[in-house]
Amino acid sequence: MSPYSRRVILAGLAFVLILSAAPLRTFSAPVSAQGHQIAAQTGPAPWWQHAVFYEIYPRSFQDTNGDGVGDLNGITERLGYLESLGVNAMWLTPIYPSPQVDFGYDISNYEAIDPLYGTMADLDRLLAEAKARHIRVLMDMVLNHTSDQHPWFIESRSSRSNPKRDWYVWNNGVPADAPVVTAFQKKYEHDGRVPPNNWESLFGGSAWQWDSQTAQWYYHMFYPQQPDLNWRNPQVRQAMYNVCRFWLSKGVAGFRLDAIETLFEDPQLRDEKLLGGVNAFGDPRESDSRQNDLPEMHEVLRQLRQVVDSYPGDRVLVGEAYTRNTQDLLSMYGLHGRQLQLPMDTQVGFINKLDVSEFRRKIFDAENLLDGHVPLFVFDNHDNPRSWNRYGDGKHDEAIAKILATILLTTRSAALMYYGEEIGMVTTPPKTRAEVQDPLGKLGWPKDKGRDGERTPMQWDSTRNAGFSTAERTWLPVPPSFRTVNVESEEHSPDSLLNWYKTLIALRRHNSALDSGENIMVDSKDPNVLSYLRKNPAGGPSVLVAMNFTAKPRSVSYHLKAQGIQSATAKTLLENGGVGKSVELRRVALPPFAVLVAEVQ
Ligand code: GLC
Repeated sequence: MSPYSRRVILAGLAFVLILSAAPLRTFSAPVSAQGHQIAAQTGPAPWWQHAVFYEIYPRSFQDTNGDGVGDLNGITERLGYLESLGVNAMWLTPIYPSPQVDFGYDISNYEAIDPLYGTMADLDRLLAEAKARHIRVLMDMVLNHTSDQHPWFIESRSSRSNPKRDWYVWNNGVPADAPVVTAFQKKYEHDGRVPPNNWESLFGGSAWQWDSQTAQWYYHMFYPQQPDLNWRNPQVRQAMYNVCRFWLSKGVAGFRLDAIETLFEDPQLRDEKLLGGVNAFGDPRESDSRQNDLPEMHEVLRQLRQVVDSYPGDRVLVGEAYTRNTQDLLSMYGLHGRQLQLPMDTQVGFINKLDVSEFRRKIFDAENLLDGHVPLFVFDNHDNPRSWNRYGDGKHDEAIAKILATILLTTRSAALMYYGEEIGMVTTPPKTRAEVQDPLGKLGWPKDKGRDGERTPMQWDSTRNAGFSTAERTWLPVPPSFRTVNVESEEHSPDSLLNWYKTLIALRRHNSALDSGENIMVDSKDPNVLSYLRKNPAGGPSVLVAMNFTAKPRSVSYHLKAQGIQSATAKTLLENGGVGKSVELRRVALPPFAVLVAEVQ
């Protein structure tokens, strides 16, 4: 199990069973969890509220120079595809100069482009051409740490008295024979001293790395080559805010903030609690409350928001978040929404089983417990096995993928997709340790095979290397599925997953109920079928969404008078499995894993 799955599972532990207790009702205006009304928004909704974001892992999207690694010109070349899909924005994972230990998440220069991906001129061209197609570009901003090759760290480690010493988190450690020292700490002994506490890196081993040059340890939440910045130092903050200004001035639409929850650590360096047993790396299992989600994070989020708000054009902050519950997620929006506009809601997308009541409860929570803020749903990213594998049963995978796409794109959420999700790319982990690229997989092998499996090249067509590259060898092998699972063949197949995504995105864009209507759960008990209504805010037709989560045919009877629906029939907007073009609401027959999206008046 990867540390990411560990975080998601921890996150899944704390839920309040609200839906079963709450009567089914509608709210005329957003109401907070505490019952107070949220200030009504004036003026048109900012673009990001209903946007579909598309995450691109540039290494794997399109290679144009034949080196087996994707590049910026490749993304520009494929803009027509993104436009035809209908996405509003793309998020590029890091393209800055980097030793590539963590494939770009170890940055050695925040204001340039890694030659592996192209030049600043290539990025400018991408920004201009994307803009012409009304697609915005978000950069990934890694604030928690830099590369150990960044000039700031090189200076910092050069001597204990260097002016940048305090830009990172340095410590003398403690004597190895001190009474509180654990066997885990002793593994890292140097010159009779050990790390100051039992903190572990999310990527395995102690979070403290010995530096012989100045005989101290430095702290790293991720790889040792990714030393953590000291966010208690005001100079660090200013330097990083200036980096953000650099990119905002270039015209990027905002940032996806990486690892934002780990910016601060307990200043008293208190030990983490032991949870018993060992993790995938063979280290003691620990809580993460001293290294994760410290309250100081919120002040930084507010300051970052001020930075982006000082630029015109509704720039947006998307946050990587694996919160424990909806309440913690709410805290990332901040009081009066002054922090992130879109912290990722991983509550829904990472339920990891087709469980109707879990989906119902979490979608309800996102609608009703986030003080009217828009959630950002996400099922896939570059750190977790693909949703196709996490939810599929091996027999009905495509139908299940269509259910997930429907939830992502018909709920009242902004939506975040990951390249390849729309064609049903599958997780393809390396077969041997020697093939592994992600150091996480090398460390965790064979229990944790790392993240290569969800980062394989985009499957464009059935030609060599799936149309991704002309290279002899691509940086990760193209999965064998590319012969049938690829953009070109799915474009020509009306029932494909790709066309399902396209239809849903277009529907969402043109249907006012799906665009901004309130999301109302229309039943609280059905264990097999998930149903909700998107209530038209302008009094026009609303939209009923129904999904059969099981391999058996199911029949549902809808009584929607309480929700203001008078008609007895619904007009189908999208269906699969043979639901039909018009349905009687008193008896809707849903074949196995079928979806119905229908207009009701
Ligand atoms: C985030 C990224 C992940 C990276 C880590 C360290 O979780 O999504 O890919 O390894 O941060 O930067």
